[in-house]
Amino acid sequence: MSIPVEFTDRLSIPLIASPMFIASGINLVVECCKAGIVGTFPALNQRTSEGFESWLIEINAKLAKWEQQSGKKAAPFGVNLIVHKSNPRWQADLALCVKYKVPLIITSLGAVADLVKEVHAYGGLVFHDVVNARHGQKAAAAGVDGIIAVCNGAGGHAGSTNPFALVTELRQFFDKTILLAGSLSHGKDIASAQMMGADMAYMGTRFLATSEANIDREYQDMILDSNASDIVYTPKISGVNASFIRQSIVDAGIDPNDLSPKAELDFGAELDMNAKPNKDDKKAWRDIWSAGQGVGSIDEIKSTLELVSQLIGEYHEATEKYNRSYKNTFAK
Ligand SMILES: Cc1cc2nc3c(=O)[nH]c(=O)nc-3n(C[C@H](O)[C@H](O)[C@H](O)COP(=O)(O)O)c2cc1C
Repeated sequence: MSIPVEFTDRLSIPLIASPMFIASGINLVVECCKAGIVGTFPALNQRTSEGFESWLIEINAKLAKWEQQSGKKAAPFGVNLIVHKSNPRWQADLALCVKYKVPLIITSLGAVADLVKEVHAYGGLVFHDVVNARHGQKAAAAGVDGIIAVCNGAGGHAGSTNPFALVTELRQFFDKTILLAGSLSHGKDIASAQMMGADMAYMGTRFLATSEANIDREYQDMILDSNASDIVYTPKISGVNASFIRQSIVDAGIDPNDLSPKAELDFGAELDMNAKPNKDDKKAWRDIWSAGQGVGSIDEIKSTLELVSQLIGEYHEATEKYNRSYKNTFAK
């Protein structure tokens, strides 16, 4: 079990705020890194590679300025690349990650050995997200530094495997960093992830309820009002299994109990949607809102700094409470 040495002395807790289409922008990333957790965003959140490059420049400048002023080290940041034939940009975006030496690349869908070599050449790390052990084995063979177990209840393109089952299966062949994703919301969830064999936690939905998340207030209100039973897990909205808030499906004029099949996963189309919003045409992510089953534990919008401070306190409290509560309970 391990956390990469590149993260030593830079993290306040073992946590990555995961990349979220539309929602993760510069402000969220920078505030996460200042608070001591890894902030990330999908390259596709900027509609062109030129725009993506401008974000890399701005994030590096903001973090460098903050480090100089505070005398502290910011946590590293990461970029999510969707390595899929329908994403025409991933190679150009990778070249920019290499140019600006992005500390962490998070790949989704394709785990590619050449990409890993290119990132390692400048000292960067590659984590890959998977929903099953077979994809984890491919990622391990490609030489990635970390595998993210996206389990049931996660927001976005979630998996359906139980977290205990998937982390254990991944650990059987992977001794580098394992991250757990799926409904983690509280500091005790981060401690639990470590106890069950993961090294770090990966949280998305929890960060939708921050003032820095780039989403509408109506979306945030829906998160505050929802529970696990309000999350619909279906392939019929975005082309692969993903989690959406039932009320947002209803508000888009669609019957959640009668969803028609969606043809194919197409990240080119998502990019296009990001560029040219068409109000009459209701789209996944922009109009039909994604969240994981962890929504039930979210009841307030906070700043990222407040949220991370809270998670740090909860994480330490959970660890101490566990040690205290059961200290003399069991036979030696
Ligand atoms: C609104 C939303 C958008 C997402 N977009 C992406 C994305 O573009 N790329 C990606 O790798 N994961 C994406 N995800 C998945 C997250 O990175 C992460 O795996 C997931 O949020 C973890 O589960 P949780 O939401 O229960 O914490 C998205 C999740 C949400 C909620």
